[in-house]
Amino acid sequence: MILETASKEQIQSSTDFLPLEGTDFVEFYVGNAKQAAHFYITAFGFQALAYAGPETGVKDRVSYVIRQNKLTFVLTTSLRPDNEIADHVNKHGDGVKFLALRVQDAASAWEETTKRGGKSYMVPKQLKDDDGEVVVSGIHTYGETVHLFIERKNYNGVFMPGFRRWENTHFITEDSGLLYVDHCVGNVGWNQMDVWVKFYEDVMGFKNILTFDDSDISTEYSALMSKVMSSGNGYVKFPINEPAEGKKKSQVEEYLEFFNGEGVQHVALATNDIVKTVRDLKSRGVEFLQVPTTYYDDLLDRVGKIDEDLEPLKELGILVDRDNEGYLLQLFSKPVQDRPTLFFEIIQRKGAKSFGKGNFKALFEAIEKEQAARGNL
Ligand code: FE2
Repeated sequence: MILETASKEQIQSSTDFLPLEGTDFVEFYVGNAKQAAHFYITAFGFQALAYAGPETGVKDRVSYVIRQNKLTFVLTTSLRPDNEIADHVNKHGDGVKFLALRVQDAASAWEETTKRGGKSYMVPKQLKDDDGEVVVSGIHTYGETVHLFIERKNYNGVFMPGFRRWENTHFITEDSGLLYVDHCVGNVGWNQMDVWVKFYEDVMGFKNILTFDDSDISTEYSALMSKVMSSGNGYVKFPINEPAEGKKKSQVEEYLEFFNGEGVQHVALATNDIVKTVRDLKSRGVEFLQVPTTYYDDLLDRVGKIDEDLEPLKELGILVDRDNEGYLLQLFSKPVQDRPTLFFEIIQRKGAKSFGKGNFKALFEAIEKEQAARGNL
């Protein structure tokens, strides 16, 4: 039996043509990278890590790299009006440009995905400095979003060639307990969900592990459909949302209108102590969606016994959901830029591998309240 299991695993890994080791970094194109980096450092508890700009030989842009545990964000702004970064910010506002994935072999990742129909963004490119070599390649996904493949096994530098260490020695913030990217969700246009499901299946070897339709997640107004795509080894998960017909405008439609196209809706950040993390983030000024306090009246009847005290969950507005394997705690921020586009989820998993379906209704009602306040419902 043991042998049989081992051989099955071997077969599985040998057929995973795109073994992903997780999220390497998330890069945002923003209007003012210096201030955006300061926001994530101050409000979310990241640390300064690296910098690229005119001083390091990059003439048309600046990039600030910040890190907290295994989470790395890159904030990039154009210094010129006439390049793809400036165009991206003009069209979409601040938002995610690159979901960079860690691989052992970036050339193989590019070959395997492009031969299956992936559209190349960047052919494999070796970047070298005194600390070694990073190989980067990339393919396009929904909207103007790009998956980079990052091979850094032969690199010992601070981030990547072209970057120098950035130390903010006079301003060190405490870690807020955010650990790594749990999942990244994309919003796509009408009738496009299955197109992108097929892309992740065919081009990247992902599997559709969960599906939500409007019977699961429509409230009176805000309907959407969602399919969760997972990499072969389960380390990378990309749920994809499509708007559905409702009485009024879906939250996904509001996103598509203001982002001016398809793009990343939210990035879920994992913590091992959501009460501590959310209390900390709130004290630093991060704004979260608030569900009605009646949500907590029958919470324990719905989810059963949980380790946490109910009071702090209620005080902080943390949501709980259970599946067959355990439960999860989660909370969603308000949009983190002026346009009602990108937001963050804070998630703590206690066995559950799902995405909080039981919270969708309460959550979407809270989102609709915000949409209505913006006059977009
Ligand atoms: Fe999520």
